[in-house]
Amino acid sequence: MQQLQFFDQMQQIRFIDLFAGIGGFHLALARQGAQCVFASEINENAKKTYLANHNLDAGAWHGDITLIEPQQIPDHEVLCAGFPCQPFSQAGQKKGFDDVRGTLFFNILQILEEKKPEAYFLENVRGLLKHDNGRTFSVIQEKLEALGYSFQSFVVKSSDYGLPQHRPRLFMIGFRDGVTKIEQPEKLPLKYTMSDIFSGNCEKEVGFTLRVGGRGSVYGDRRNWEFYKVDGEIRRLTSKHGLLMQGFPSDFIFPVSEIEAMKQLGNSVSVDAIEAFYKKIKEKLSAEQFTLVK
Ligand SMILES: C[S@@+](CC[C@H](N)C(=O)[O-])C[C@H]1O[C@@H](n2cnc3c(N)ncnc32)[C@H](O)[C@@H]1O
Repeated sequence: MQQLQFFDQMQQIRFIDLFAGIGGFHLALARQGAQCVFASEINENAKKTYLANHNLDAGAWHGDITLIEPQQIPDHEVLCAGFPCQPFSQAGQKKGFDDVRGTLFFNILQILEEKKPEAYFLENVRGLLKHDNGRTFSVIQEKLEALGYSFQSFVVKSSDYGLPQHRPRLFMIGFRDGVTKIEQPEKLPLKYTMSDIFSGNCEKEVGFTLRVGGRGSVYGDRRNWEFYKVDGEIRRLTSKHGLLMQGFPSDFIFPVSEIEAMKQLGNSVSVDAIEAFYKKIKEKLSAEQFTLVK
């Protein structure tokens, strides 16, 4: 009976997609057969893009995560979150959750505490390691371990997982049993080069970064736009190119402006890198099968 229950559940690992953006986590985990049972994203434009591209059960879509009680969230095996980085207060200092209360990371902790999923998979910018002189990162590790979860972190370049860009990101992964750890997935060959993406000879093959904001220039609002030299001509990187750089399919739909689409791509995770690490998580869940049966 227990065995049967296990096979039923293993047919589809359930995950939740917090700070969902346009669903980079969703795509990566769905490619590996997992089912999204809850997604939360506050931004209306991101919502449009997410819902135009991903299959969600009725009622699984939610807005602001701070307005949802953790008990309302359905059971799931994996919690995914590419959460915004916010400063923590100095107040708590290892005494409970006081120093993270009121931050979006606190919402993640509350869900882990209430729902006890088998694993979490968090993503952030590499800068989180140095944020507040390293304090933010140590508080994150400390709080996750205080809930009984294991903790591992990896600085991951998309170009090591098939995509033609340098985009160092921080992945944090842990398991509810407090001990399980994964091996870093083997690097993958490039799926395509920038020359393939532009269908022409791009001057540099690898090493571009899909930027978000901060490019104050004559292009004004179009500050997310980037230009490359292809076959001797200056070409703009469009959302069609950006999709491939981030590992999204070429038929992904953007029901928003081109400027918004570029911003959304810049905010999103690199799908192939997430998928490579998720495969390792999935292997662990399968190997420790009965931990999945509640
Ligand atoms: C770094 S992005 C994550 C992108 C996502 N992983 C993807 O693949 O597209 C962080 C997201 O958190 C969302 N966000 C910020 N505050 C939120 C809140 N209170 N509730 C839900 N989403 C929120 C932002 O709108 C943003 O889209």
